[in-house]
Amino acid sequence: MSELSRIGVAIDSDLLARFDALIAERGYSNRSEAFRDLIRDELVQRSWERPDEQVVGTVTLVYDHHVRLLNEKLTGMQHDHYHNVLSTLHVHLDHDNCLEVLIVKGRSAEVRKIAEALISTKGVKHGRLTLTSGGAGL
Ligand code: NI
Repeated sequence: MSELSRIGVAIDSDLLARFDALIAERGYSNRSEAFRDLIRDELVQRSWERPDEQVVGTVTLVYDHHVRLLNEKLTGMQHDHYHNVLSTLHVHLDHDNCLEVLIVKGRSAEVRKIAEALISTKGVKHGRLTLTSGGAGL
């Protein structure tokens, strides 16, 4: 970690009160860590906007495994991009529904495309790409 810098921030009192209430709800013990997390989150979001940036994320999928050939289709798509799909967790939620969480890594544009293709596959009931970072530079 680099050395710490101290900054002063002028902020509207009502806005600060709302911010304090929000971070207390989320369990932050002080404003500094909450500010740092907000800044880091913004930096991570920006990194995903650059197509060639190396990124890490998770893709969450919920689907009914009875849908014909859906399992095979989703697995096939993951094999097509095995360099980008690092790991997959599969949980049988109930008799019909499966939850799959994929850890994905690679160029931002590529990872986003893979996630969108998986999520938009017919039979996937819900899907979400969560953008995160490898952690370097944060
Ligand atoms: Ni299952």
